[in-house]
Amino acid sequence: MSLPLTETRGETVERNWPYDESDIGQTALFPQYRADLRSPHPTELNAFIQDNIVKDWSSLTWKQVGKPFRVVNYAEGKRRWEEKNGDTLPVQKSWELFNQSFHTLFMKDVPTERKRVMTALLKNVSQLHWKRAARVLGELEELTLWNTAHRIQDAIWDPRGKRALFQGLDIDKPRVLFLGAADGYEAMQLYAMYPGGEVVLVDYDDFCRTDRFGKFPEQYPFLGVDPNTGSHKVWYKDQMNISFITDDIRNLPFGREFDIVVSVGLIEHFPDEHKAEAIDFHRRFLKPDGYAILTTPRLQWKSRLFYHVLAEWMNYTYRELMTVQQMGLYLYESGFEILRHGTIKAHNGIVARIR
Ligand SMILES: C[S@@+](CC[C@H](N)C(=O)[O-])C[C@H]1O[C@@H](n2cnc3c(N)ncnc32)[C@H](O)[C@@H]1O
Repeated sequence: MSLPLTETRGETVERNWPYDESDIGQTALFPQYRADLRSPHPTELNAFIQDNIVKDWSSLTWKQVGKPFRVVNYAEGKRRWEEKNGDTLPVQKSWELFNQSFHTLFMKDVPTERKRVMTALLKNVSQLHWKRAARVLGELEELTLWNTAHRIQDAIWDPRGKRALFQGLDIDKPRVLFLGAADGYEAMQLYAMYPGGEVVLVDYDDFCRTDRFGKFPEQYPFLGVDPNTGSHKVWYKDQMNISFITDDIRNLPFGREFDIVVSVGLIEHFPDEHKAEAIDFHRRFLKPDGYAILTTPRLQWKSRLFYHVLAEWMNYTYRELMTVQQMGLYLYESGFEILRHGTIKAHNGIVARIR
C-alpha cells in the first residue's frame, strides 16, 4: 500500500497506510488535510461542543437574539461574470463558481505551495518589484489562513466537533439524505458512526459529484464503530454505501423515508423570506421520528476574518453568519423540537425532530 507523506513538526515523514484500529488516538498532518483519530471516547468528545446554551426555546424572541450578520464583500469573479453577461449572477451558477474555487483550496498541497510563494516573494523583493511582491504577499496571507483553518485547526471538517454533535442518536442502519452535499463529508462521518445503512448525497452542481465528492481523498480515515463488535473502527469512503443525485433539492422524488436529513452550510444562504422553505426541505423527506441535523457557520471573529481574507475564494453567494440562538429560533419557529444544539469550531450545530 502506498505511503502518503505527512508532516510532523514541520518535518515531512512517511507513515503506514491504511490506518487501522491501532492508530486510534493519533493525528497526522498531510499536505492537503489533517487526519484525526483522537478522542474516541464520548465523554472526551464533549469538550468539542459547547451545548445546551438555550434552556427554553419557546420563550426566546428575535428582539433578544437579533438577526444574522450578512457577508457582503463579494468575490471579483462574481462581478466579472455579471459584467461579461450583463446580468446578475444566477444562484446555481454562483454555487458552481464557489464549488470550483473551494475545491481548488482543498486540493492545494500546502507545504509545496508555501515554498513556491515564499520563493516568489523573495525574488520580487530582491528585484524591487513592489507591486508583484504585494500581490504575492496577499497570496501568502490567504494560504496561511487556509493552512491554519483547514490543516492546523481542522475547523472546516472538524471531525471531533462533528462526532460530538452526531453522537448518541437512537438509530440503526439509518438512511441518510444530505441536502446540498458538496463533498459529502458529514454524511461519511455519520455513516462511520452509524454504519450499515445508506447515504444519498444531493447537490445540483454536478462538479460536486465528479470532483468535490468524486475526488474526496480515498485515504481519509473516518472514526466510527464496528457494527459486529461495537468497538471503534476506522472507515474509508470506498467502504460506504453512498449514492449521489445531481438535482435541485426542490425536485427530489422521495417521501418521508429518511432517518436523518442533514445539511451543512445551506440555510444561511437563504434570506429570511425563503428560510422557512429551505428549512422545510429538512422535514419533507424525514420519517416522523427521524433526525434533522443542520449546521451553519458561526458569527464569531474567526469566521468574519475567514470570509474577509478568503473573499475571492468563497464569496459568490448570499451568505449570513449567525449565532446558535438565531439558528435555533429559525428551526423552532418552523416547527422543530431542538434536541441538541451547540457550537463546534466554525459552525453551530443542531439536532432536531419534527414537533
Ligand atoms: C455552502 S455549500 C455547503 C458547504 C459544504 N460543506 C462545502 O464544503 O462547501 C452548499 C451546497 O449546496 C448546494 N445547493 C445549494 N442550493 C441547492 C439546491 N437548491 N439544490 C441542490 N443543491 C443545492 C450547492 O451547490 C453547494 O454545493
